[in-house]
Amino acid sequence: MTDQLPISAPVLRAVIAGTGSALPRRRVTNAELAETVDTSDEWIVERTGIRARHIAAEDETTSSLATDAARKALEAAGMDASEIGLIVLATATPDQTFPASATKVQAALGINDCVAFDVQAVCSGFLYALSVAESMMRGGAAKAALVIGAETFSRILDWQDRATCVLFGDGAGAVVLRAETSAADPADKAARGLLSSRLHADGRHNELLFVDGGPSTTGTVGKVRMKGREVFRHAVVNLASVLGEVLAEAGLTPADIDWLVPHQANARILDATARKLDLPAERVIVTVDEHANTSAASVPLALDVAVRDGRIKRGDLLVLEAMGGGFTWGAAVVRY
Ligand code: UT7
Repeated sequence: MTDQLPISAPVLRAVIAGTGSALPRRRVTNAELAETVDTSDEWIVERTGIRARHIAAEDETTSSLATDAARKALEAAGMDASEIGLIVLATATPDQTFPASATKVQAALGINDCVAFDVQAVCSGFLYALSVAESMMRGGAAKAALVIGAETFSRILDWQDRATCVLFGDGAGAVVLRAETSAADPADKAARGLLSSRLHADGRHNELLFVDGGPSTTGTVGKVRMKGREVFRHAVVNLASVLGEVLAEAGLTPADIDWLVPHQANARILDATARKLDLPAERVIVTVDEHANTSAASVPLALDVAVRDGRIKRGDLLVLEAMGGGFTWGAAVVRY
């Protein structure tokens, strides 16, 4: 017998080695939209916090934006594409029904053999993709992975429907994950990478946020339909709850959070979530004003913006969260 406390062995974690993002060339302001839709800059800013969004041109696709974001993430990580063994791309707007857009990114990066597939969880897609990639890495499937959120929602918007078309934008964000060993206790500052994650889905709410077409029903792509007020209500409740779960799982409290990197749907949802966590507004990364809602791209886009402008630094504790169609929702605690 010995009095010594057991020292837990270090564990394998998925660490964010680099981030990148890409936006379409064209920036569209609220005033520009108001020229063709019955809306106003005042209404959009007051209800959503959105001032502008980027809209893809014909030659800009989900996979081309994803590839640009992935290249920048690889550059930031100081890694070569040949080191990537897994690509998980979250999108609800793939270039085509199949092949997976992840394989298009793979080809564009010149990777001849790796695991590559898409994940479809709409706005929560990046959280789902992150968790799937991390599980596969911990299982030994790859030492390095690209996790990407990329969307061209402008292609599935009904530009006559003012209740939806003003809310969304196009873009892509990516992270390179590397499998590294670090401290076992997530609350230990030496524990780096994805420390905990929680995912949820509740298919009873399909009809509150959906696309009214698809290959197996109408044979068309369809357009986004949303009952905004109901989605809003569910978002605030579900996000507060999953944030509590993911922090508890990591043995952390809201006071430990350096940065909340939330899904960018509506500035009012971000404010409400920060209030519930008792987190000062300065600790929340906000890009909804310039990007609008870019669905699966919004969390990695916001992350990359804050990494590149120097707010998020190595060692910072980040909480990522998102909620979207399905409903699906999830959160993750990451030490950057
Ligand atoms: O990313 C997935 C998750 N998505 C979300 O989290 C979205 C959640 N929902 C929201 O962000 C908000 O509910 C919206 C921004 C979509 C809408 O804001 P709201 O305060 O809930 O407004 P509302 O839908 O209750 O509409 C209020 C009024 C209506 O007019 P009446 O019926 O009161 O006369 C709408 O017709 O605003 C009208 N309206 C508009 N007016 C000017 C709706 N869209 C517009 C518009 N411009 N673009």
